[in-house]
Formats: sequence, structure tokens, C-alpha cells
Amino acid sequence: MNILLTGGAGYIGSHTAVALLEAGHHVVIIDNFCNSQRSVVNKIEQITGKKLICIEADVCNTPVVLKALQENQVDAVIHFAGLKAVGESVQNPLAYYANNITGTISLLEAMRTADVNVLVFSSSATVYGDPLYLPIDEKHPTSATSPYGRTKLHIEEMLKDMASSDPTWKIICLRYFNPVGAHDSGLIGEEPQGIPNNLTPYVARVASGILPQLQVFGGNYPTADGTGVRDYIHIMDLAEGHLAALNFVNQHPGWIAVNLGTGSGHSVLEVIHAYEAVVNSKIPFKIVDRRPGDIASCYAKVDSARELLQWVAKRGLSEMCESSWNFQRAK
Ligand SMILES: NC(=O)c1ccc[n+]([C@@H]2O[C@H](COP(=O)([O-])OP(=O)(O)OC[C@H]3O[C@@H](n4cnc5c(N)ncnc54)[C@H](O)[C@@H]3O)[C@@H](O)[C@H]2O)c1
Repeated sequence: MNILLTGGAGYIGSHTAVALLEAGHHVVIIDNFCNSQRSVVNKIEQITGKKLICIEADVCNTPVVLKALQENQVDAVIHFAGLKAVGESVQNPLAYYANNITGTISLLEAMRTADVNVLVFSSSATVYGDPLYLPIDEKHPTSATSPYGRTKLHIEEMLKDMASSDPTWKIICLRYFNPVGAHDSGLIGEEPQGIPNNLTPYVARVASGILPQLQVFGGNYPTADGTGVRDYIHIMDLAEGHLAALNFVNQHPGWIAVNLGTGSGHSVLEVIHAYEAVVNSKIPFKIVDRRPGDIASCYAKVDSARELLQWVAKRGLSEMCESSWNFQRAK
């Protein structure tokens, strides 16, 4: 298949591009590189030994997206492009609505004109808001605790409306839990600019001496060791989940949302200890106050992914930490 990846140079997009190319698909990327490096494209080609097409453009530019769809005879789109920093979205909600919502409308207009109706959308566990029960299944009520989360919810609803309006649409929203780690090559991984928001890039920088100490937000949650619990998923498992989702959605018109996680949670301290075992030294950390809005535990029920997509996450926490450290050292 010819598959367009919006935001394909980013963290999840680049690993998915590797998985798609290795499975024999043709990949076209549209990225404006607002949160990624141009060099990632060469690295994807280096890992796979295959060429891809990369168009530097904003997904809000409908004519460019349309041309990319038509010229490359695209069969399906995976829509990763978006801004994703929760805190930044609270500071600057308009930027998030403008980029994430307008970008999706632009993409849908181009897809409708080009008669491309297969779409995989990067949604997030954030659409569940504060969990009412665990593990979280797809029937859990949705709500948003930040403008970022609201963009994901609005887009999901918009896509549902599209599918109701025209039965030829085939749309799957993948609700990712917490992707971590890197490709085994150490060539691509998660490369946040500035101080990382996410746990493992932060731990990686502390482990390599770039940052002095990790702050653990909250040590008195109602969890086994008092620190927050999340469903961490290896980035290559997540990438492979997109292949499974594409195979499924191609044969299933309509709209569906599916969780992509491992189905079990790890606490912050467990992640730190797993990382310490990989780097063979202590990671300095300090427990500080909880962050407003953070929740105690969040992990997925993954039955839909297993039953519908025939996909389960295979890699464990130590592989996640090893690959993250391998990428950090390669840098
Ligand atoms: N990483 C996570 O923890 C996580 C969790 C849940 C959902 N998601 C969602 O998955 C998607 C990918 O996340 P990621 O971690 O790879 O983020 P990322 O920032 O690494 O990748 C996003 C890519 O999209 C590009 N982009 C952003 N706006 C664009 C635009 N208007 N036009 C063209 N390109 C644009 C960026 O340059 C970047 O390369 C996002 O939609 C994100 O909200 C991520």
C-alpha cells in the first residue's frame, strides 16, 4: 500500500515508518519539522535500506496535502501531525486548536477530494480524563483535562461524524498509552527539545549526567510504592500496532477507537530501578510535590486490540529502558 504519514518525522511516526517500510509498504511523509529533525528521514532510510518520499509542508496547507495524495496514489493515511505538550496547551490553547483541529480538517478535505477514505488517527489515553475505573476500556466515559486533550476529543468526535455522514469512510482512532524507548539501531528515538516532559527521556539525561537529578512528582499516591503508575509501551510495539490497525480498518468501514497499551502499569520507582539495572548505576532522584492534574494510576484494557487487531505488545520494561539508553548513548 501507499501510505501517507502526517508528522511522520516525529517520535511515533518515524518508528511506524520503519515498521511500514519493512512490511513492504511505500511511505510518504508530510512534516513541517516544528518538533522533529530533517535528518530523521535519512535515518529511517538507513535502518530499512528503503527510500521514502518526504514533503516539507504544513498539514494545514490543503492543496499541498491533496497533491501529495494524488501524485503518490495514496491508499491510506496515518495522522500523527499535532502538538502534544499538555502544559504548553494550557498556556497557549489557540495554537493547539489551530494546529491540531485545523490540520485535521485540512487533511479530511484533501482526503475527501482525492477519494482516500482510510484513516488511522493518533489519539491518546488522555481522552479518558481522570479514570473512573481500571483497567480503562474503550467504553470508559471520555472527558478532557487540558486543551491538548480537548483537541483529541474534538477530533475523535469530528471523525465519528465523518463516518456517519459517509459510509465509505474507514476510520480508527488509536488511543495510545505511554510510548517509551527507541528503535534497536539507536538511530531514532524520542528527542524532545529542551527539558523533557516525559519520564524516560528525563531519566536518560540524568543517567548520562546531562541533568543532575530526576524529580519524582508525588510519593504518596494510593499505589504500591506511592508513585504514579502508567501503562508504558515500547515504541516498536506501538509502531507494529499501526500495521495491525491498518489491516483491520481496511476491511471495516465506519469509526472505531482502540486502546494501544500493554494492559499493565509500572510505577515511576519501578521505571527508575529498571533503568538503573540497565545503566548499572544509581539514578539520583528526589520525591517532590504532586503536579496539579496528575492521576495516581492509568493502564489500559487491551482486549479490543488483541481480538480485533490481532495485536499484543510483546516487549517488557527492561527492553524499553535498554533501547532508550542505547539511543541516548548513540547520541
Ligand atoms: N508521545 C506520546 O506520548 C503520545 C501519546 C498519545 C498520543 N500522542 C499523539 O501521537 C502523535 C505523534 O506524537 P509524537 O510523540 O510522535 O509527537 P512528535 O512531536 O514527535 O511528532 C509529531 C510530528 O508532527 C509534526 N507536525 C506537528 N504539526 C504539524 C503540522 N501542522 N504540519 C505538519 N507536521 C506537523 C512535528 O514536526 C512532528 O514531526 C501526536 O498527535 C500526539 O498527540 C503521542
